[in-house]
Amino acid sequence: MSVTEPSTNEPGRLPAGEVQAMFDRIAPRYDRLNRIMTAGLDRRWREAAAAAADLAVGDAGLDVCTGTGDLAFALSTRVTDRGRVVGADFSENMLDRARVKGDARGGGVEFVQADALALPFGDGTFDAATVGFGIRNVADLDRGISEMARVVRPGGRVVILEITTPQRLRRFYELWFDRVVPVLGKLMGKDGAAYSYLPASVKRFPEPPALAEKMAAAGLTDVRWQLFAGGIIGLHYGRVAP
Ligand SMILES: C[S@@+](CC[C@H](N)C(=O)[O-])C[C@H]1O[C@@H](n2cnc3c(N)ncnc32)[C@H](O)[C@@H]1O
Repeated sequence: MSVTEPSTNEPGRLPAGEVQAMFDRIAPRYDRLNRIMTAGLDRRWREAAAAAADLAVGDAGLDVCTGTGDLAFALSTRVTDRGRVVGADFSENMLDRARVKGDARGGGVEFVQADALALPFGDGTFDAATVGFGIRNVADLDRGISEMARVVRPGGRVVILEITTPQRLRRFYELWFDRVVPVLGKLMGKDGAAYSYLPASVKRFPEPPALAEKMAAAGLTDVRWQLFAGGIIGLHYGRVAP
């Protein structure tokens, strides 16, 4: 599968092929590391993101950069087996884990390999699109948001759950993220580079007001956000303009 490459090589930004290879590599450890690094709170944040998607029973939802599928599963619970949920990601190994978890749940989510920057769906296909901890990794953030907005029907929600730089407790956060997270990553295996990339990618990601502006520029209306965990996690959502 061809992927869209970024034009620069600034810190916290990797060519798309390297991002894909990195997630293929860490896929077997991804869920375990998530639970440890977030003290298990990641599930709660994904539940909040699924709620923000505002899906009803029978609706169709898309989870972009779905990884091992947890946010897609949260959407699936909301639309039930009368609806449809697709989880899209470009890492086959992450998708493999998602499929195994999906089978154990009895199905309900269709997992497809796809680039977030060129989604293989027609305009307005879904009632909502979500992305959890993924949009920070795409080579072109504006295009990533526009693609999500394009495949959602007018009035439907686009939801972005992402790590963000908090305004308060900044020093504690920097200590945790710059020093502890890379060490934890290394201890878990041979993935030190992935967990050094993580803090750098968060630092270059727009802070909440700037991300909201980008969502509005992509044609989303009524854009709002809420923060969790002392401002470390941002949940943004807006509606596709009619
Ligand atoms: C940090 S993981 C997040 C996974 C999941 N959404 C979650 O909540 O745990 C980021 C995911 O984004 C995927 N990804 C990054 N860039 C992508 C792109 N351009 N197209 C599709 N998937 C992408 C990676 O393969 C990886 O699975």
